[in-house]
Amino acid sequence: MSSPALTQSSSSLPAPDTGYSPALSAYTRILAALTFILLGAGALTVAKGAGLSIPDWPLAFHRLVPPYVGNIRFEYTHRVIAGVVSLMTVGLAVWLWVADRRRWMRWLGIAALLGVILQAILGGLTVLDFQPPWLTAFHASLAQLFFLTTVALAIFTGRHWRTPAEPRDDASPGVFRLAVITTAVILLQIIFGGAYRHDALPLWPHLAGAAAVTITVLWTASVALRRHKDLAALRRPVRWLVAVLGLQLVLGLNIYLISRATLSLPQAPEASVVGAIAHLLGGAALFATSLFVALRARQHLRAPRASGARTASRAVEA
Ligand code: HEM
Repeated sequence: MSSPALTQSSSSLPAPDTGYSPALSAYTRILAALTFILLGAGALTVAKGAGLSIPDWPLAFHRLVPPYVGNIRFEYTHRVIAGVVSLMTVGLAVWLWVADRRRWMRWLGIAALLGVILQAILGGLTVLDFQPPWLTAFHASLAQLFFLTTVALAIFTGRHWRTPAEPRDDASPGVFRLAVITTAVILLQIIFGGAYRHDALPLWPHLAGAAAVTITVLWTASVALRRHKDLAALRRPVRWLVAVLGLQLVLGLNIYLISRATLSLPQAPEASVVGAIAHLLGGAALFATSLFVALRARQHLRAPRASGARTASRAVEA
Protein backbone atom coordinates (compact mmCIF):
# COMPACT_ATOMS: atom_id res chain seq x y z
CA MET A 1 0.00 0.00 0.00
CA SER A 2 1.37 3.47 -0.86
CA SER A 3 1.86 6.02 1.94
CA PRO A 4 -0.21 9.27 1.86
CA ALA A 5 3.01 11.30 1.48
CA LEU A 6 4.09 9.27 -1.52
CA THR A 7 0.64 9.49 -3.09
CA GLN A 8 0.58 13.24 -2.59
CA SER A 9 4.03 13.85 -4.02
CA SER A 10 3.44 11.62 -7.04
CA SER A 11 0.07 13.22 -7.78
CA SER A 12 1.61 16.71 -7.64
CA LEU A 13 4.14 15.74 -10.33
CA PRO A 14 3.29 17.20 -13.74
CA ALA A 15 1.90 14.56 -16.09
CA PRO A 16 4.31 13.60 -18.91
CA ASP A 17 3.52 15.57 -22.07
CA THR A 18 2.30 12.95 -24.53
CA GLY A 19 0.59 15.56 -26.71
CA TYR A 20 -2.79 13.98 -25.95
CA SER A 21 -5.70 16.41 -26.29
CA PRO A 22 -9.07 15.12 -24.96
CA ALA A 23 -10.95 17.74 -27.03
CA LEU A 24 -9.20 16.78 -30.30
CA SER A 25 -9.68 13.09 -29.53
CA ALA A 26 -13.42 13.57 -28.88
CA TYR A 27 -13.77 15.65 -32.06
CA THR A 28 -12.18 12.97 -34.29
CA ARG A 29 -14.33 10.25 -32.66
CA ILE A 30 -17.47 12.25 -33.37
CA LEU A 31 -16.31 12.75 -36.98
CA ALA A 32 -15.71 8.99 -37.41
CA ALA A 33 -19.12 8.16 -35.88
CA LEU A 34 -20.87 10.72 -38.09
CA THR A 35 -19.10 9.31 -41.16
CA PHE A 36 -20.39 5.83 -40.21
CA ILE A 37 -23.93 7.30 -40.07
CA LEU A 38 -23.28 8.99 -43.43
CA LEU A 39 -22.39 5.58 -44.95
CA GLY A 40 -25.77 4.31 -43.67
CA ALA A 41 -27.56 7.35 -45.13
CA GLY A 42 -25.83 6.77 -48.49
CA ALA A 43 -26.83 3.08 -48.44
CA LEU A 44 -30.43 4.08 -47.64
CA THR A 45 -30.47 6.49 -50.62
CA VAL A 46 -29.18 3.74 -52.95
CA ALA A 47 -31.51 1.06 -51.54
CA LYS A 48 -34.53 3.34 -51.96
CA GLY A 49 -33.47 4.19 -55.52
CA ALA A 50 -33.46 7.85 -54.47
CA GLY A 51 -30.07 8.86 -55.92
CA LEU A 52 -31.61 10.92 -58.73
CA SER A 53 -34.60 12.27 -56.79
CA ILE A 54 -32.91 15.70 -56.70
CA PRO A 55 -31.78 16.54 -60.26
CA ASP A 56 -29.30 19.34 -59.47
CA TRP A 57 -26.21 19.81 -57.29
CA PRO A 58 -24.92 21.55 -55.14
CA LEU A 59 -28.38 23.19 -54.82
CA ALA A 60 -31.55 21.10 -54.61
CA PHE A 61 -34.27 22.19 -57.04
CA HIS A 62 -32.37 25.53 -57.20
CA ARG A 63 -32.93 25.95 -53.43
CA LEU A 64 -30.98 25.33 -50.27
CA VAL A 65 -33.88 23.39 -48.70
CA PRO A 66 -36.15 21.44 -51.07
CA PRO A 67 -39.65 20.16 -50.14
CA TYR A 68 -39.07 17.29 -47.69
CA VAL A 69 -41.25 14.67 -49.39
CA GLY A 70 -40.98 11.20 -50.98
CA ASN A 71 -37.53 10.00 -52.05
CA ILE A 72 -36.19 13.57 -51.80
CA ARG A 73 -36.07 13.06 -48.01
CA PHE A 74 -33.45 10.30 -48.30
CA GLU A 75 -31.18 12.06 -50.81
CA TYR A 76 -31.47 15.41 -49.01
CA THR A 77 -30.71 13.92 -45.57
CA HIS A 78 -27.69 12.21 -47.12
CA ARG A 79 -26.50 15.57 -48.52
CA VAL A 80 -27.01 17.38 -45.19
CA ILE A 81 -25.01 14.79 -43.19
CA ALA A 82 -22.32 14.89 -45.92
CA GLY A 83 -22.21 18.69 -45.53
CA VAL A 84 -21.68 18.43 -41.77
CA VAL A 85 -18.97 15.78 -42.23
CA SER A 86 -17.25 17.98 -44.86
CA LEU A 87 -17.26 21.04 -42.60
CA MET A 88 -15.98 19.00 -39.65
CA THR A 89 -13.18 17.64 -41.85
CA VAL A 90 -12.14 21.19 -42.81
CA GLY A 91 -12.13 22.06 -39.08
CA LEU A 92 -10.07 18.97 -38.25
CA ALA A 93 -7.47 19.67 -40.96
CA VAL A 94 -7.03 23.23 -39.62
CA TRP A 95 -6.93 22.02 -35.99
CA LEU A 96 -4.28 19.39 -36.74
CA TRP A 97 -2.23 21.84 -38.80
CA VAL A 98 -2.19 24.35 -35.95
CA ALA A 99 -2.00 22.09 -32.90
CA ASP A 100 -0.47 18.67 -33.75
CA ARG A 101 3.30 18.48 -33.59
CA ARG A 102 3.47 15.31 -35.71
CA ARG A 103 4.13 16.33 -39.31
CA TRP A 104 2.71 13.09 -40.79
CA MET A 105 -0.47 13.67 -38.77
CA ARG A 106 -0.92 17.16 -40.20
CA TRP A 107 -0.63 15.68 -43.70
CA LEU A 108 -3.11 12.94 -42.82
CA GLY A 109 -5.59 15.73 -41.94
CA ILE A 110 -4.93 17.32 -45.36
CA ALA A 111 -5.39 13.89 -47.05
CA ALA A 112 -8.78 13.53 -45.31
CA LEU A 113 -9.72 17.02 -46.52
CA LEU A 114 -8.75 16.19 -50.13
CA GLY A 115 -10.66 12.90 -49.81
CA VAL A 116 -13.87 14.59 -48.70
CA ILE A 117 -13.58 17.21 -51.48
CA LEU A 118 -13.08 14.47 -54.10
CA GLN A 119 -15.99 12.51 -52.62
CA ALA A 120 -18.31 15.54 -52.82
CA ILE A 121 -17.30 16.15 -56.46
CA LEU A 122 -17.88 12.46 -57.32
CA GLY A 123 -21.26 12.55 -55.54
CA GLY A 124 -22.24 15.65 -57.54
CA LEU A 125 -21.04 14.09 -60.82
CA THR A 126 -23.07 10.91 -60.23
CA VAL A 127 -26.18 13.12 -60.03
CA LEU A 128 -25.31 15.34 -63.01
CA ASP A 129 -24.22 12.33 -65.14
CA PHE A 130 -27.26 10.13 -64.27
CA GLN A 131 -25.30 7.65 -62.13
CA PRO A 132 -22.97 5.77 -64.49
CA PRO A 133 -22.12 2.39 -62.79
CA TRP A 134 -18.34 2.89 -62.51
CA LEU A 135 -18.75 6.37 -61.00
CA THR A 136 -21.27 5.30 -58.36
CA ALA A 137 -19.10 2.25 -57.56
CA PHE A 138 -16.08 4.57 -57.16
CA HIS A 139 -18.14 6.91 -54.94
CA ALA A 140 -19.16 3.93 -52.73
CA SER A 141 -15.54 2.68 -52.37
CA LEU A 142 -14.09 6.13 -51.68
CA ALA A 143 -16.75 6.62 -48.99
CA GLN A 144 -15.39 3.54 -47.18
CA LEU A 145 -11.79 4.71 -47.62
CA PHE A 146 -12.70 8.11 -46.20
CA PHE A 147 -14.37 6.40 -43.24
CA LEU A 148 -11.20 4.37 -42.66
CA THR A 149 -9.17 7.61 -42.67
CA THR A 150 -11.42 9.13 -39.99
CA VAL A 151 -11.03 5.95 -37.89
CA ALA A 152 -7.22 6.19 -38.27
CA LEU A 153 -7.35 9.85 -37.20
CA ALA A 154 -9.45 8.91 -34.17
CA ILE A 155 -6.93 6.21 -33.20
CA PHE A 156 -3.89 8.47 -33.70
CA THR A 157 -5.40 11.24 -31.56
CA GLY A 158 -6.60 8.77 -28.88
CA ARG A 159 -5.13 8.39 -25.41
CA HIS A 160 -3.98 4.80 -26.01
CA TRP A 161 -1.91 5.68 -29.09
CA ARG A 162 -0.32 8.64 -27.32
CA THR A 163 0.74 6.55 -24.32
CA PRO A 164 4.25 5.21 -25.00
CA ALA A 165 4.28 1.40 -25.09
CA GLU A 166 7.21 -0.97 -24.59
CA PRO A 167 6.80 -3.29 -27.59
CA ARG A 168 7.42 -6.99 -27.14
CA ASP A 169 9.06 -9.28 -29.70
CA ASP A 170 6.99 -10.82 -32.44
CA ALA A 171 7.98 -13.55 -34.89
CA SER A 172 7.61 -13.93 -38.65
CA PRO A 173 5.10 -13.50 -40.24
CA GLY A 174 4.49 -10.42 -38.08
CA VAL A 175 0.96 -9.77 -36.82
CA PHE A 176 1.19 -6.17 -38.07
CA ARG A 177 2.02 -7.31 -41.59
CA LEU A 178 -0.77 -9.92 -41.56
CA ALA A 179 -3.31 -7.35 -40.35
CA VAL A 180 -2.23 -4.86 -43.05
CA ILE A 181 -2.70 -7.58 -45.70
CA THR A 182 -6.13 -8.38 -44.22
CA THR A 183 -7.13 -4.70 -44.34
CA ALA A 184 -6.01 -4.48 -48.00
CA VAL A 185 -7.99 -7.64 -48.90
CA ILE A 186 -11.09 -6.18 -47.18
CA LEU A 187 -10.65 -2.97 -49.22
CA LEU A 188 -10.62 -5.05 -52.42
CA GLN A 189 -13.71 -6.91 -51.23
CA ILE A 190 -15.50 -3.61 -50.52
CA ILE A 191 -14.63 -2.40 -54.05
CA PHE A 192 -16.01 -5.67 -55.56
CA GLY A 193 -19.18 -5.38 -53.42
CA GLY A 194 -19.82 -1.76 -54.47
CA ALA A 195 -19.09 -2.64 -58.13
CA TYR A 196 -21.60 -5.51 -58.00
CA ARG A 197 -24.17 -3.35 -56.20
CA HIS A 198 -23.88 -0.68 -58.89
CA ASP A 199 -23.84 -3.10 -61.86
CA ALA A 200 -20.18 -2.59 -62.80
CA LEU A 201 -19.12 -6.23 -62.04
CA PRO A 202 -20.80 -9.67 -61.64
CA LEU A 203 -21.20 -11.27 -58.19
CA TRP A 204 -18.48 -13.94 -58.43
CA PRO A 205 -15.45 -11.64 -57.71
CA HIS A 206 -17.26 -10.54 -54.52
CA LEU A 207 -17.91 -14.16 -53.49
CA ALA A 208 -14.27 -15.08 -54.14
CA GLY A 209 -13.34 -11.98 -52.11
CA ALA A 210 -15.46 -13.22 -49.18
CA ALA A 211 -13.40 -16.43 -49.14
CA ALA A 212 -10.14 -14.42 -49.27
CA VAL A 213 -11.28 -12.13 -46.43
CA THR A 214 -12.28 -15.14 -44.30
CA ILE A 215 -8.89 -16.80 -44.82
CA THR A 216 -6.82 -13.68 -44.06
CA VAL A 217 -8.89 -12.70 -40.99
CA LEU A 218 -8.67 -16.22 -39.51
CA TRP A 219 -4.94 -16.43 -40.30
CA THR A 220 -4.26 -13.09 -38.58
CA ALA A 221 -6.42 -14.00 -35.60
CA SER A 222 -4.90 -17.46 -35.10
CA VAL A 223 -1.33 -16.12 -35.26
CA ALA A 224 -2.11 -13.18 -32.93
CA LEU A 225 -3.98 -15.28 -30.37
CA ARG A 226 -1.46 -18.13 -30.42
CA ARG A 227 1.51 -15.82 -29.84
CA HIS A 228 0.03 -12.99 -27.77
CA LYS A 229 -2.99 -14.37 -25.93
CA ASP A 230 -1.95 -12.58 -22.74
CA LEU A 231 -1.75 -9.14 -24.44
CA ALA A 232 -5.26 -7.80 -23.79
CA ALA A 233 -4.69 -4.68 -25.93
CA LEU A 234 -4.38 -6.97 -28.97
CA ARG A 235 -6.49 -9.96 -27.92
CA ARG A 236 -9.73 -7.98 -27.53
CA PRO A 237 -9.78 -6.31 -30.98
CA VAL A 238 -8.71 -9.58 -32.62
CA ARG A 239 -11.71 -11.35 -31.08
CA TRP A 240 -13.92 -8.50 -32.28
CA LEU A 241 -12.48 -8.90 -35.77
CA VAL A 242 -13.51 -12.57 -35.89
CA ALA A 243 -16.97 -11.77 -34.50
CA VAL A 244 -17.58 -8.96 -37.03
CA LEU A 245 -16.42 -11.26 -39.85
CA GLY A 246 -18.98 -13.91 -38.77
CA LEU A 247 -21.72 -11.29 -38.63
CA GLN A 248 -20.77 -9.88 -42.04
CA LEU A 249 -20.85 -13.31 -43.70
CA VAL A 250 -24.36 -13.86 -42.31
CA LEU A 251 -25.44 -10.38 -43.48
CA GLY A 252 -23.99 -11.05 -46.95
CA LEU A 253 -25.88 -14.35 -47.24
CA ASN A 254 -29.01 -12.63 -45.94
CA ILE A 255 -29.01 -9.84 -48.56
CA TYR A 256 -28.17 -12.35 -51.29
CA LEU A 257 -31.16 -14.55 -50.41
CA ILE A 258 -33.51 -11.56 -50.02
CA SER A 259 -32.39 -10.10 -53.37
CA ARG A 260 -33.02 -13.43 -55.14
CA ALA A 261 -36.43 -13.90 -53.51
CA THR A 262 -37.60 -10.36 -54.33
CA LEU A 263 -36.07 -9.98 -57.80
CA SER A 264 -39.42 -9.72 -59.60
CA LEU A 265 -40.91 -7.09 -57.27
CA PRO A 266 -41.17 -3.56 -58.76
CA GLN A 267 -39.96 -1.89 -55.54
CA ALA A 268 -37.37 -3.01 -52.97
CA PRO A 269 -39.18 -4.36 -49.85
CA GLU A 270 -38.22 -3.02 -46.39
CA ALA A 271 -36.28 -6.23 -45.55
CA SER A 272 -34.07 -5.68 -48.57
CA VAL A 273 -33.46 -2.00 -47.68
CA VAL A 274 -32.54 -2.85 -44.07
CA GLY A 275 -30.46 -5.86 -45.19
CA ALA A 276 -28.48 -3.79 -47.73
CA ILE A 277 -27.73 -1.04 -45.17
CA ALA A 278 -26.70 -3.59 -42.53
CA HIS A 279 -24.37 -5.37 -44.97
CA LEU A 280 -22.70 -2.11 -46.06
CA LEU A 281 -22.21 -1.00 -42.45
CA GLY A 282 -20.94 -4.49 -41.54
CA GLY A 283 -18.30 -4.12 -44.27
CA ALA A 284 -17.27 -0.73 -42.86
CA ALA A 285 -17.08 -2.15 -39.31
CA LEU A 286 -14.92 -5.06 -40.50
CA PHE A 287 -12.60 -2.68 -42.39
CA ALA A 288 -12.23 -0.42 -39.32
CA THR A 289 -11.67 -3.32 -36.88
CA SER A 290 -8.97 -4.76 -39.12
CA LEU A 291 -7.17 -1.39 -39.20
CA PHE A 292 -7.52 -1.18 -35.42
CA VAL A 293 -5.84 -4.60 -35.03
CA ALA A 294 -3.03 -3.53 -37.40
CA LEU A 295 -2.36 -0.36 -35.42
CA ARG A 296 -2.47 -2.17 -32.08
CA ALA A 297 0.10 -4.64 -33.43
CA ARG A 298 2.21 -1.72 -34.69
CA GLN A 299 2.18 -0.16 -31.25
CA HIS A 300 2.61 -3.22 -29.05
CA LEU A 301 4.75 -5.60 -31.10
CA ARG A 302 8.28 -5.26 -32.35
CA ALA A 303 8.67 -6.46 -35.94
CA PRO A 304 10.95 -9.51 -36.39
CA ARG A 305 14.65 -8.51 -36.32
CA ALA A 306 13.84 -4.87 -35.49
CA SER A 307 16.35 -2.95 -33.36
CA GLY A 308 15.70 -1.21 -30.07
CA ALA A 309 16.57 2.11 -31.74
CA ARG A 310 13.41 1.91 -33.83
CA THR A 311 11.33 1.39 -30.71
CA ALA A 312 12.77 4.48 -29.05
CA SER A 313 12.24 6.68 -32.10
CA ARG A 314 8.68 5.35 -32.39
CA ALA A 315 7.89 6.34 -28.80
CA VAL A 316 9.22 9.85 -29.39
CA GLU A 317 7.33 10.21 -32.69
CA ALA A 318 3.98 9.02 -31.30
C1 HEM B 1 -16.58 -11.09 -46.18
C2 HEM B 1 -16.78 -9.87 -46.12
C3 HEM B 1 -17.72 -9.05 -46.99
C4 HEM B 1 -17.58 -7.70 -47.11
C5 HEM B 1 -16.52 -6.80 -46.45
C6 HEM B 1 -18.64 -7.24 -47.98
C7 HEM B 1 -18.85 -5.93 -48.35
C8 HEM B 1 -19.81 -5.49 -49.23
C9 HEM B 1 -20.00 -4.11 -49.63
C10 HEM B 1 -19.19 -2.92 -49.10
C11 HEM B 1 -21.01 -4.07 -50.51
C12 HEM B 1 -21.51 -2.82 -51.25
C13 HEM B 1 -22.80 -2.34 -50.67
C14 HEM B 1 -23.26 -1.06 -51.33
O1 HEM B 1 -22.47 -0.34 -51.98
O2 HEM B 1 -24.45 -0.75 -51.19
C15 HEM B 1 -21.49 -5.43 -50.69
C16 HEM B 1 -22.55 -5.81 -51.51
C17 HEM B 1 -23.08 -7.11 -51.60
N1 HEM B 1 -22.56 -8.25 -50.99
FE1 HEM B 1 -21.01 -8.31 -49.69
N2 HEM B 1 -19.39 -8.35 -48.38
C18 HEM B 1 -18.88 -9.48 -47.79
C19 HEM B 1 -19.35 -10.78 -47.94
C20 HEM B 1 -20.47 -11.17 -48.70
C21 HEM B 1 -21.00 -12.51 -48.82
C22 HEM B 1 -20.45 -13.74 -48.11
C23 HEM B 1 -22.08 -12.45 -49.66
C24 HEM B 1 -23.03 -13.52 -50.17
C25 HEM B 1 -23.09 -14.76 -49.81
C26 HEM B 1 -22.23 -11.08 -50.07
C27 HEM B 1 -23.21 -10.62 -50.92
C28 HEM B 1 -23.39 -9.32 -51.32
C29 HEM B 1 -24.48 -8.85 -52.15
C30 HEM B 1 -25.63 -9.70 -52.69
C31 HEM B 1 -24.28 -7.47 -52.33
C32 HEM B 1 -25.19 -6.48 -53.07
C33 HEM B 1 -26.11 -5.94 -51.99
C34 HEM B 1 -27.26 -5.12 -52.52
O3 HEM B 1 -27.83 -5.48 -53.56
O4 HEM B 1 -27.59 -4.10 -51.82
N3 HEM B 1 -21.24 -10.33 -49.46
N4 HEM B 1 -20.74 -6.26 -49.89
